[in-house]
Amino acid sequence: MDKQVRKIGVLTSGGDAPGMNAAIRAVVRTALNNNIQVVGIRKGYNGLMNGDIKDLNGKDVSEILGRGGTILHSARALEMLTEEGQQKAANIYKILGLDALVVIGGDGSFRGCRALAKYGVNCIGIPATIDLDISCSEYTIGFDTAVNTGVEAISKLRDTSGSHERCSVCEVMGRDAGYIALWCAMGGGAEEVLIPEEKELGTSERVIKQLLENRSKGKRHNLVVVAEGIGGSQQLAKEIQDTTGIQTRATILGHLQRGGSPTALDRIRASEMGYIAVKSIMEGNVNKIVAYNKGEYQTIDIEEALSMEKQFNPEMYEIIKVLSI
Ligand code: F6P
Repeated sequence: MDKQVRKIGVLTSGGDAPGMNAAIRAVVRTALNNNIQVVGIRKGYNGLMNGDIKDLNGKDVSEILGRGGTILHSARALEMLTEEGQQKAANIYKILGLDALVVIGGDGSFRGCRALAKYGVNCIGIPATIDLDISCSEYTIGFDTAVNTGVEAISKLRDTSGSHERCSVCEVMGRDAGYIALWCAMGGGAEEVLIPEEKELGTSERVIKQLLENRSKGKRHNLVVVAEGIGGSQQLAKEIQDTTGIQTRATILGHLQRGGSPTALDRIRASEMGYIAVKSIMEGNVNKIVAYNKGEYQTIDIEEALSMEKQFNPEMYEIIKVLSI
């Protein structure tokens, strides 16, 4: 980028995540502080393809730092997977006179950035998903809040399953990734956790065997955390009850974990990432993802970021097993 930045767009895309609003606020206020105009694009890439936009001023983003969801709304835009959709979005970007686009979302949203870059759109991605399944960043906006929501729910389930000497099966979100399940299991002191990354260990036979062993050692109540990607919690609860005679109840937290006021960590990191995104644009450092790794922020080339693979670390799984005796 060789010209002065005058106008940028910002959108939120994919599943919403607590802290997205904090990131929008930071983008808008950092830009305005540097005399850059900001347009908010509604409903993710759909809004860009259809020109559904709104100028954002400092007041538009007041009182949103601690609010869940996204004031810009979000969507999964299938049309962006087509060349026609990408061209449409790039055209609107040009018609609006944008110098850059900030995309707050997950890997799918960043693939949209990569496609748009080919049409001359200057993008910066900010990682936001409750699933933590973005390869280039150890942190994603919303994960901390989702885990806190999950742990709070699990603690409540513990109270009641303890009172009745029951087993509780708690299903948390994460279709392809077990990070929420692992963190909730560790934070909630679960006896068992079933995650997509260790599918072969997720058998009901193994869980039931473990629960019986726990009971024989004097454990009067048990908690099993199941990731959405494994699913079948109601069926698992029935199987546990039928086979062991231990009363078992299943609870599916579902989209509850996507809502709520962001934690302090999510507010702070989202604010810093929004600030860094705009500063990067001003430096001409575009077509990058703002990442957080080993305690530091960095910007990573989109192509490189999307080619990375998230390595699953089985250590947390092992620790949960060790601590559950
Ligand atoms: O945003 C991530 C996520 O919540 C996953 O955990 C879940 O599998 C998926 O989105 C659900 O998507 P939707 O809200 O579109 O049903």
